[in-house]
Amino acid sequence: MSISAAFPLIIAHRGASGYLPEHSLASKALAYGLGADFLEQDLVASRDGELLVLHDLWLDDVCDVAERFPARRRADGHFYCIDFDLAEIRSLRFGERCEPATGTEKFPGRFPRSAGGFGVVTFDEEIRFVQGLNASTGRNVGIYPEIKAPQWHAEQGVDLTRSVTEALDRHGYLEPGSRIFLQCFDADTLRSVRARVGPRLPIIRLLSSRLPVNAAQLRDIATYADGIGPSLKLILRGVGADGAYDLSELVTQAHALGLAVHPYTFRADDLPAGIDDFDALLDLFIHDLGVDGLFTDFTDRVASRRDTVPP
Ligand code: G3P
Ligand code: CA
Repeated sequence: MSISAAFPLIIAHRGASGYLPEHSLASKALAYGLGADFLEQDLVASRDGELLVLHDLWLDDVCDVAERFPARRRADGHFYCIDFDLAEIRSLRFGERCEPATGTEKFPGRFPRSAGGFGVVTFDEEIRFVQGLNASTGRNVGIYPEIKAPQWHAEQGVDLTRSVTEALDRHGYLEPGSRIFLQCFDADTLRSVRARVGPRLPIIRLLSSRLPVNAAQLRDIATYADGIGPSLKLILRGVGADGAYDLSELVTQAHALGLAVHPYTFRADDLPAGIDDFDALLDLFIHDLGVDGLFTDFTDRVASRRDTVPP
């Protein structure tokens, strides 16, 4: 086993999502307390131009929108965030992610859907919350915003990228050395941000499991990004019948280009096929592969591996 020099950054994926509903402020507070280095914010726009910390373009899976506003469903069956003002979205009850047609929870062992009501959080509110905790604890936990579907937002008449970078500027995150990574799946968006803002804003290009990148594409990413955020499936492609890992060269190739590697998503209750031990999965990525960060729903479980790395 090779030992990487430093422990990877712990990126709390939508908060402490393994324990509390994703993107609730309670979930972010728990992740902060469990030792996250960064808290993730997925960002979408409301009709009145507010930046909302929500994962989906629609509200269907995480709140009671279908009961409260049945007439606002679009023809494709979804209730889009961008069709609602912030005040309307604030009136909804948020909870654990579920299949809207059946009410079946996506992760049955997590916080009960029926218990408690949670609310939407704006990007401004979450930044003030993180900065407040940093002030009261003396820590410097970062933010890790994702611009969700910028092209789709543009088609709806919203320049989501500009709204996000303006918010970052407002809150001081465009100052060099700020504790932030900006992430997006869209290359053109990140290229334009890098051209406009420059290297003072660290950028992570997300990579879907459906779209593996080749060496030339990786070299192109290195022209506008500081790292990649690949699905962990692009690195661990499978496990053989004999238990052998089928590993890609992505981490090595990215490191050779000076790119950091922050794979997603490490879930103790949703392991990759062929893996039955979450700690073993973590140790593979931390020690053998030497990744630089991990998106996880279980900050505490990743933090518990810190003592497996020499100081
Ligand atoms: O942003 C990293 C990871 O969160 C990407 O997947 O779909 O959870 O936003 P998603
Ligand atoms: Ca995300």
